[in-house]
Amino acid sequence: MVIPERHKKLIAERDHQAGLRQLKGDAQLGVDFFSNDYLGLVHGGAGELVAGRVGSTGSRLLSGDSTLALEVEQNLANFFNGEAALLYQSGYMANLGLLSCVAGRTDTIIYDELVHASIRQGIQLSNSRSFSFKHNDCSDLEVKLQQASSQCYVVVESLYSMDGDWAKLEQIAHLCEAYQALLIVDEAHSTGIIGAHGRGFCQYKELEEKVWARIYTFGKAAGMHGAIVVGDNTLKTFLVNFSKPFIYTTAMAEKDLHLINQVPSLFEKDECRDQLHENIAFFNTEVHRLGLGLFFSRNNSPIQIFMPESASDLLGIADHLQGEGFQVKAIRYPTVPKGLDRIRICLHSFNTSDQITALLYHLKERIHS
Ligand SMILES: Cc1ncc(COP(=O)(O)O)c(C=O)c1O
Repeated sequence: MVIPERHKKLIAERDHQAGLRQLKGDAQLGVDFFSNDYLGLVHGGAGELVAGRVGSTGSRLLSGDSTLALEVEQNLANFFNGEAALLYQSGYMANLGLLSCVAGRTDTIIYDELVHASIRQGIQLSNSRSFSFKHNDCSDLEVKLQQASSQCYVVVESLYSMDGDWAKLEQIAHLCEAYQALLIVDEAHSTGIIGAHGRGFCQYKELEEKVWARIYTFGKAAGMHGAIVVGDNTLKTFLVNFSKPFIYTTAMAEKDLHLINQVPSLFEKDECRDQLHENIAFFNTEVHRLGLGLFFSRNNSPIQIFMPESASDLLGIADHLQGEGFQVKAIRYPTVPKGLDRIRICLHSFNTSDQITALLYHLKERIHS
């Protein structure tokens, strides 16, 4: 994988001036004069750990690192077919942590106009040159790539959270290669739901090697919280040294690390994922059968978008469905662009076909009333 020149330079400078920070795992030997466990609630009176460590007592670079954290990162890197992985407390923090530091002022970040707020905010913090491109529009992406200067990064989501459509990843990866841009893919909504044993969309498309950094989150299909950035060893070293949302925060607690370590074995069971995909196919068949095709985006994903002819009645429709016992939410500006308010329907493995039919039936009844 390409190592950006800026990263090589900053890593070398840091190494020369102040010493490169490295994660070393457990730092428990000796009397604790370094953690933030001021009341000794994590450690016992004599400084031993209280059964089962509750909090991590500090940031990873001070007292909060552990061999467990390093093991979890390596397990996840192996599972997601990457060289290295770095844990963050959430997907929001991972995007902020990655995008705020990878590009310098003269570098360029090009991002799909529909990317998540955490990506936008990370880009803003980076102070680099940045442009959005029209959603999933590779011609527009190419125009923007032609305007890029210095090292260029392209950021997309694999599955768009408010639209439910998939990135045109082959074409995007191809363009990135042609323009020597580094591709970053946020797999928040595809983690666990697609690819071999849920390894995500990059794996499904066999494009992992063409993607410079991938973000997997555990608050969605994995039902936990936390996230990892997967990339090469140099990226991990760079983030450990320059990613402020990684450096200046208390590390994850041991119980969370144990939970996250179960992600590969949870995902390896294919039944729930197979059932989810059956439900998605059934939903689309029912949309067609009930004549609702015009109102739906027809996504082959768990995120289905309903847009009525007039957005003015959207809340009424959502209220009606809620009154009938279906939990759905209207999504409105500024979460989605002005004039494109919608109802977002999230499909799950546990929704029954009767529930899906009933939901669509009530929707049809309401829009024709
Ligand atoms: C595409 C995308 N990235 C990142 C996040 C943030 O993830 P987390 O909820 O783990 O902070 C979200 C959350 O909705 C998301 O949709």
